[in-house]
Amino acid sequence: MIMEKRRDGDSMRIIEVKNYDQACSVAADIISAHLIMKKNSVLGLATGSTPLGVYQNLVQKYRMGILDFSECKTVNLDEYIGLEPDNEHSYAYYMWNNFFKHINISKQNAHIPRGFFSSSEKPCEDFDNRLFALGRPDIQLLGLGHNGHIGFNEPDVKFSRSTHIVRLSERTKQANARFFNKADEMPSEAITMGILDIMKAVHILLLVSDKSKMGILKKALEGDIDPQVPASILQVHQNVTVVVNTDT
Ligand code: GLP
Repeated sequence: MIMEKRRDGDSMRIIEVKNYDQACSVAADIISAHLIMKKNSVLGLATGSTPLGVYQNLVQKYRMGILDFSECKTVNLDEYIGLEPDNEHSYAYYMWNNFFKHINISKQNAHIPRGFFSSSEKPCEDFDNRLFALGRPDIQLLGLGHNGHIGFNEPDVKFSRSTHIVRLSERTKQANARFFNKADEMPSEAITMGILDIMKAVHILLLVSDKSKMGILKKALEGDIDPQVPASILQVHQNVTVVVNTDT
């Protein structure tokens, strides 16, 4: 058992599964249920290696005619600074290639923070305005950083509120360097939704499938609510589902 403290009736449900495929299938079923119940759902999406299988499951359901994305809107958590959307390392590229191009979503309904902008532009304000216009996401999918980050909200002295630019921690750079050809190609900054933005989602779905994250997951779910462990804020959200693969 990953959790010892939680009791029935808590606002957080923990679903423990035994492998990555099962974790992705459960997470995809939860997202699908939202979309089936409400065709114009706002789906909050995440990147990283963990959710890849979730997107594959959702694409499969779309191909089987179970899901229709024509009326839904999506919003992504974050993006690297300095990467254009067609850069293969950008999160925009990741989302289009792994998900959007395989489903019937309109391009204007998929919102991703812009990491490439001129000095006269205001990407954080622009994204905040978009978040405001979209309203509360019906569900927000989250992965977990090795240091407890959600989105790119790194350990800090306070919980962030709105979209902002962050300097990535050494731990995060180390973990994400594997996606780049050379470690020094990896941007050192990112734009991310704030913690308060993330907490506005009606339902939060945290997906963890990595043995090396079990310690930080436990700390996030059972430890003090502490901005040094950004995911610990989820303890005070009203509706959180954690899908965890305990057999990694
Ligand atoms: C990045 C993303 C996070 C993601 C995390 C974990 O830092 N900004 O949103 O949750 O990576 O990624 P992975 O699933 O590859 O371990």
